[in-house]
Amino acid sequence: MDSEVFFVDPNNTICWWIPFKKTRNSVRNALKEIQNIKEYINDDKNIIKKKDFAYGSDSNLGFNAIIDTNMEYISEEDISFYNAYKKHKGNLSDKWEGYLYIYSKFLKPYILENKPINLLEIGIQNGGSLQLWEQYLPKGSTIVGVDIDPNCANLNLDNDNVKVYIGDATDKEFVCDNFSNSKFDIIIDDGSHICFDVISSFELLFEKLNYGGLYIIEDCHTSYWKNFNDYGGSFRGENTHIEYFKNLVDSINYYSIEAFPNNDEYLKARKYTEDIASISFYDSIIVIEKYYQAKKRPFKRMLAGEKNIIKELDESLKDCKVDNETNFVKFYKHD
Ligand SMILES: C[S@@+](CC[C@H](N)C(=O)[O-])C[C@H]1O[C@@H](n2cnc3c(N)ncnc32)[C@H](O)[C@@H]1O
Repeated sequence: MDSEVFFVDPNNTICWWIPFKKTRNSVRNALKEIQNIKEYINDDKNIIKKKDFAYGSDSNLGFNAIIDTNMEYISEEDISFYNAYKKHKGNLSDKWEGYLYIYSKFLKPYILENKPINLLEIGIQNGGSLQLWEQYLPKGSTIVGVDIDPNCANLNLDNDNVKVYIGDATDKEFVCDNFSNSKFDIIIDDGSHICFDVISSFELLFEKLNYGGLYIIEDCHTSYWKNFNDYGGSFRGENTHIEYFKNLVDSINYYSIEAFPNNDEYLKARKYTEDIASISFYDSIIVIEKYYQAKKRPFKRMLAGEKNIIKELDESLKDCKVDNETNFVKFYKHD
C-alpha cells in the first residue's frame, strides 16, 4: 500500500506531494525523504520558504506529523472521491461502487493541481452528483448539468458554480444553442445509457472537451442488455457503444494501419487519431482521455544509452538518439 505526504500552503493549496511505499524500510526511507525536503526548504536558492510549510506523515509509518506552523495536513483519505461520496448528505446521487474508485484515480491530479475546472454531466436526476462535484472539485469550478426531464429545473441547484440546462444531450440543435462557445475539462455521460444516445452525445460533445480533458461514460453494462428496457444492447452487437468505443482503439493506432479495407474504415480511424490519447475500459465505465495537444504526427522512435552489446545500432536509427538538444513534447496532461 502506498501512503503520501502533502505539503500545503496557507491557502490550503497542495504544493508538494510525495508518495511513500509502505515497505519494511519505509520508516527509514520516509525519514530520509523528509531530511531531503528539509534541506530543500532551507536552501535559499529554492523559491519555497520554510516558514510557509508544514509537513506531516502517515502515523502508520511510525512517526507523527511534524508541524512547523499551523498548516493543515491533508491525507489521501481527504482527497478521495469515495470518501466524499460516503460523507455526502445532500440530494441523492446514483453511482455504482467501482466508479467511486475510478473518479478518485482520474480526478486526483485535478484536486492536487487545485485549479478551477469546467465539468459537464449529462443526467441530473435528483441532483446529488452535481452537488458532489461542486463540493469535491477545486474551488471556483463550474459544474454544468443537462437533463431531458424538465422537473430537474425545480431542484433549485443553480448558483454561481452550478448551471442546470433542460434538454436532450443527443440533440445537435440543443447542444449548438447552449454550448456553442463552451469548453469542458471533464464530460460525464450518465444520461439515458441507450447505445444510440451514448454514441450520439459523444460525437456531438467530444469536440467540446478541452485538450487534456476526460470524457467519461457510466453504466456501459446496458450495452450488453438485449432484453431489458430497450437500451439497444447485445453481446458484440455492432451498434452498441461498447463495440463503438472498442473500435476507436484503431484511431489511437491509426499510423500503424498498413491498409484499410475501404474508405469508411479509413475515415473512422482517421477521425479521432489526433485527439484520443487513451481509452480505459473498466467494469461498466469508460474513460477517454484527450491529448494535451493535437497529435499531428506519429510518435517518434527514441533511443537512449550508449552500449549496444547484443545488437548493433541500425544505421537508419542514428537520428533517433536522444541528447540534450532533444525537445520532449507534452502529449499527456498529467504525465
Ligand atoms: C442515472 S440518472 C442521472 C444520475 C445522476 N447523474 C447521479 O449521479 O445521481 C439519468 C438521468 O438522465 C436523464 N436523461 C435521459 N436521457 C437524456 C438525454 N437524452 N439528455 C439528457 N438527459 C437525459 C434522465 O432524465 C435521468 O434524470
